[in-house]
Amino acid sequence: MTEPSSQIALAARMIAGSTRCVALTGAGISTESGLPDFRSPGTGLWEGVDPAAELSVAALRRDPERFYQFFLGFRRMAGAVPNRAHEVLARLEHEGLVRMVITQNIDGLHALAGSRQVLEVHGHLQTASCLDCRRSLPMSELLDQVDDGVVPPRCPQCGEVVRPDVVLFGDPLPECFAAARTESARADVMLVVGTSLTVWPVAGLPALARSLIIVNLEDTPYDRQAVVRIRDRAGVALGAIWESLPHR
Ligand code: APR
Ligand code: ZN
Repeated sequence: MTEPSSQIALAARMIAGSTRCVALTGAGISTESGLPDFRSPGTGLWEGVDPAAELSVAALRRDPERFYQFFLGFRRMAGAVPNRAHEVLARLEHEGLVRMVITQNIDGLHALAGSRQVLEVHGHLQTASCLDCRRSLPMSELLDQVDDGVVPPRCPQCGEVVRPDVVLFGDPLPECFAAARTESARADVMLVVGTSLTVWPVAGLPALARSLIIVNLEDTPYDRQAVVRIRDRAGVALGAIWESLPHR
């Protein structure tokens, strides 16, 4: 076990003493599950890429082949498993210490780890929907079509192009974002894990919470106002916080 630094011990006390603690996570919580994040220098998926030009409805309509070629890069998420950080957040929820996880991630690892209250504010990889009639279909059906060379995949009902239900650049955020904003504003502690906090409007959520604990390998725009700032790997830091909690 990592010796509880004063930051770890303070984070554990803040969580144990909180009345409404929420977690806000990003791709950095899943890198220890083997999934690259987006902006880490040298390994981030968006290195040398303008994601807004590739992953938008306009890009899908303009060049569906290119869009799906890019989108299929997310397929690697299918084999990933939750890591220690996901597990600790699920246990904190189970202990009644974290009310919910607000995540920017589409990898589904929080639910796989056992978290039940998860707000996927950038969508998910479970379903796809028709651009025209909005019919919803399981992601497996979309991937079957793409694997059979049907690019772009088509709606079984009206034949129009189908898109994944991840939030694409230029999309409005899903309804669950309103709940994420409400919960952030009611939180006395927000535990931020593995996000650069650079993509709005999610990047505005930490400003709503009363106090911040930030676990991130790099600087974030909120570091100065955070009560606790832990620059360590999410699995190590959350594991140490868990070990430092006054267990019931
Ligand atoms: N432990 C702690 N922090 C980590 C780890 C780790 N093991 N691995 C990476 N990080 C940190 C990085 O230093 C980086 O600051 O996690 C952060 C990840 O930031 P981004 O790559 O920008 O990912 P994220 O903040 O989730 O991006 C937000 O951008 O492109 C959109 O929709 C996409 O949801 C995504 C959004
Ligand atoms: Zn349709």
